[in-house]
Amino acid sequence: MKKPLVVANWKLYVTARGDALAKARAVARGAKNVDAALVICPPTPFIEVMHAPLKRAGISLGAQTISVSGVSARTGEVTAPMVASLGVSYAIVGHSERRAMGEDENGVHERVMAALDAKLAPIVCVGEHTRDASNGDHFAVIENQLRSAFTQILVKDARRLVVAYEPVWAIGKTAADAMTAGELEETVIYIRKVLVELVGRAPALSIPILYGGSVEPANARELMESGVAGFLVGHASVEPQSLLAIGKAATEKNGTKKR
Ligand code: PGA
Repeated sequence: MKKPLVVANWKLYVTARGDALAKARAVARGAKNVDAALVICPPTPFIEVMHAPLKRAGISLGAQTISVSGVSARTGEVTAPMVASLGVSYAIVGHSERRAMGEDENGVHERVMAALDAKLAPIVCVGEHTRDASNGDHFAVIENQLRSAFTQILVKDARRLVVAYEPVWAIGKTAADAMTAGELEETVIYIRKVLVELVGRAPALSIPILYGGSVEPANARELMESGVAGFLVGHASVEPQSLLAIGKAATEKNGTKKR
């Protein structure tokens, strides 16, 4: 059984290099008591200073986004090979906050390919804006996002993919507003079914499906009962003790369900 995967998406919540380093050291100190695989996605300028303390503690780094372009004249963009050269091993792709800034399905697909080319594991975010339990429209939204993101994926690359299901309506709130494990379970099953159609059964079963959207220490343990492989955590990942508590909670259910 793989360890649960807990990914910290710091967004722009950490604003200074010294603060990023202090938080990295605190997470590294506490990580020995946590049996989850941890990944921290800080703002890009702080990646380099965090690398050594995290590496010593076995914690991975991720980029919050990557550019579609390779070597070209696109002022300000940061490419997958650039972050890979800093020791990053994951990249969040297609986060709803990036989609809201204009990243379309094709752009998400291109970023998945750019990440894979640079030997990064893309963490591909999918999720509906609103959910009306009476019509099930959210399934079509999720399926379309998965199909376009993973067009022409090779089976050998499929094993490096991570999917993060993040219903947009549940992001940035509190544990009380997150999904319940019961609601989440049927969506995880649906995502797995679509992945099997896209990449074949064996690779699809190896793709971790994470949940994101108001995961906090208070609801992490219960959410793991849905069959997710871990979490993509925003606001509650910024405080080291809170991130570590979520990592611990994620392992408490480890082994009780097939993921
Ligand atoms: P949240 O963010 O945990 O603050 O809801 C999750 C995300 O946007 O990845």
